[in-house]
Amino acid sequence: MTTSFDFFNYLNNELYCEDVKVKEIIEKAGSPAYIYSKNSILEHFIEIRDAFEEVDPLICFSVKANSNLSVIKVLADAGSGFDVVSGGELYRVLKVGVSPDKIVFAGVGKTSEEIKYALENDIFMFNVESPAELANIDRIAGSMGKRGRVALRINPDIDAKTHDKTTTGKKENKFGIDFESASQLIKNIDNYKNIDLKGIHVHLGSPIYSTGPYVQGLEKVYKFVQETLDEKGKQGIEYVNIGGGYCMSYTGEKVKRPRDYAADIVPLIKKLGCKVVMEPGRFIIANAGILLTRTTYIKVATWGKKFVICDAAMNDLARPSLYDAVHRAWPVKTDVPMPEVELPGEEKGSDKRLELVDIVGPVCESSDVLAKERWFPDVKEGDLIAFFSTGAYGFTMSSSYNTRPRTCEILVDGDSFSTVRRRETYEDLITGEKEFLD
Ligand code: LLP
Repeated sequence: MTTSFDFFNYLNNELYCEDVKVKEIIEKAGSPAYIYSKNSILEHFIEIRDAFEEVDPLICFSVKANSNLSVIKVLADAGSGFDVVSGGELYRVLKVGVSPDKIVFAGVGKTSEEIKYALENDIFMFNVESPAELANIDRIAGSMGKRGRVALRINPDIDAKTHDKTTTGKKENKFGIDFESASQLIKNIDNYKNIDLKGIHVHLGSPIYSTGPYVQGLEKVYKFVQETLDEKGKQGIEYVNIGGGYCMSYTGEKVKRPRDYAADIVPLIKKLGCKVVMEPGRFIIANAGILLTRTTYIKVATWGKKFVICDAAMNDLARPSLYDAVHRAWPVKTDVPMPEVELPGEEKGSDKRLELVDIVGPVCESSDVLAKERWFPDVKEGDLIAFFSTGAYGFTMSSSYNTRPRTCEILVDGDSFSTVRRRETYEDLITGEKEFLD
């Protein structure tokens, strides 16, 4: 078994996840389905941990990327911590039995209930995003006889050069606290009687394809600590949390790996002299998952356009319609090899067996296009198609729009697989409403 494609491989013209034929999974589980490779998840976790070994980071997997309990369990067993962004995510990780001292909590709008819930469970740290939130944590911690450990999330006004909708570190973004306000907060930290300042957090957006923004961010943090804080303030900066955003390849193109990030980031962390927290999400899980769908109909317009209509839709995978994201797609069984790198619509490869298609779902929106203008092998009704690199922000962003039950999730480990979330039923979809009918 080769690991060259993150544990998803074509063998004898057929797609496998680890040592299991994807077709066999779908025959049992039905379609559409998200399929994750346990060993791919672990390999990515280990790759990032080893790359940053020198600074021994607390790696907090970003739960928003994939919050399935079994995925959390795989990572927790491997020693991961977790970055949560809501009471619901915190509930999930606690359910799995994650040690609270490995949980960090981010988000601009933590409610009093969420703060109380996190304090009750003694989480490691809040990443605080405003003076008002800091005051609220202080007040609630005081009323509970607890202490709130916090890192201040800085908004360093850096353009991470990623999608507009996933950029978080520019000054006009809602995230974080500007340096001047952070400086004031740190100077007056003794006024917050129930707060322990532990450090600084910076997350610039995602995915970030170069190390430049991380370097810029850490240089600004260094300058801030050195030039703005007094000795007591400096002592409060025991941790630097460098967030997530580490890229992976969606199209087969070569991109930076954790070691490349570490080469530029580790020296700056050492210069800062802090302990490190990291919050990778997509790097660990995106390429460890695929979305499987079955072709329902083929429609060819007289003017030539071919639509492959499949049973997955924008409600199952929102990224293409939200961000114009490109996910590689390929039939599960085909004698046409998948190109190493996804070809843009206008460029045809040399393979004459490819034709230009749109792969679309059944949802009643023109934006329900999962793959636009792709050179694709001939597929028939009933054929299976895999959408690659969908393990991150795939299922977690899915919805039941058009009253479509959400898909099941399957975890593969070697030559076995198991359902880790069952497919929703129609009955699930009306639970919570039906009692109000009469
Ligand atoms: N830390 C914080 C504070 C974050 O806000 C995020 C992602 C991460 C870590 C993890 O970023 P990652 O390593 O996964 O790139 N739905 C979008 C992505 C939104 C990211 C939100 N925050 C997408 O599908 O691309």
